[in-house]
Amino acid sequence: MLDCDSLLFSDIVRGLKTRVLGKKEIFHYTEIDSTNARAVAMADQGAPEGTLVVAERQACGRGRRGRTWFSPPADGIYASLILRPSLLPREAPQITFLTAVAAAEAIHDCTQLDVRIKWPNDLLVNGKKFAGILTEIHADRDVLHYAVVGIGINVNTSGFPEEISDRATSLLIETGRRFSRAALLRDYLREEESRLIQLRTKGFAPILARWKELADTIGRSIRVEMTGATCEGWAEDVDPEGVLILRDRKGRCHRILSGDVALL
Ligand code: BTN
Repeated sequence: MLDCDSLLFSDIVRGLKTRVLGKKEIFHYTEIDSTNARAVAMADQGAPEGTLVVAERQACGRGRRGRTWFSPPADGIYASLILRPSLLPREAPQITFLTAVAAAEAIHDCTQLDVRIKWPNDLLVNGKKFAGILTEIHADRDVLHYAVVGIGINVNTSGFPEEISDRATSLLIETGRRFSRAALLRDYLREEESRLIQLRTKGFAPILARWKELADTIGRSIRVEMTGATCEGWAEDVDPEGVLILRDRKGRCHRILSGDVALL
C-alpha cells in the first residue's frame, strides 16, 4: 500500500530519465480549474518546451468534445505538457497518437495490464476507459506555435459518478493495487520523450504502426457518434493523418475526423 503518494516536484524529478520533458519547470497545484488551461496560458507567455503542469485535483478538467474530465483529489494523474514540435498544423494529431502509444506502453510496463487504444485516443483496460488525452494547439496557417498535451489517468480512483460508472475504470479497480502516481508519470514522460525523438528522426509511420498494434478499433464493427450524426460500419483503417476510415453496410467509405466510437 502507498501511504503517501504525491506529485510534488521532488517526487517527480527523483529518478526522472528525460532530457527535456519535466526538466525545465514543473508547476504543481493542489487544486486548479484545468492543467490544460493553465499550460495554454503559460505557453502563450512563452514557456519553453517540456514545461509540465500537474494538479492533485481539477475543478473543471477539460475532456474531448466539450466534456469534463472527472478529477477527484489525489487519485489520478492530471498533467499537461507544453511541446513546441517542428510540425505543420495539419500534422498536430500525430502528437495525440504518439502520446497514446507512450502512455499505453508506460502503463503496461508499470502494471502489466493489457492496455488498448480506442480511436481516437482513449486508453482502455478490459473494454473500459481509464485514461484520456486532450491536445490543444495554437497555430497560424502554416506554423504550429505550440501544443499542450494533457493526459488524465485514473490511477487509484475507487469509484465514479453514476453517469460514467458503466464505462470508466481505474488501475486500482483493474488490479486491486495502488500505484505511485509519481513513478507512473515519470515512466510516461520518458516514453513520451523517446517517441518525440522517434517522430523527429524517423517520422510518423513507426508510431502509427505501433498505435495500430495497440488499437482495438480497426477491423471491428463500430458505431461512431459525431456532432449531429451517427455512422455504423466496419472500421477499415486509420490513415496517416489520424482519420478513421469506416465502410458502411452499403459499401460506402466515410472519413471520420472526430467522434465517439462504440464497438458493436
Ligand atoms: C478525454 O475526453 O478523453 C480527454 C481527457 C483529458 C483530461 C486531461 S486531465 C489533464 C488535462 N487537463 C485538462 O483539463 N484535461 C486534460
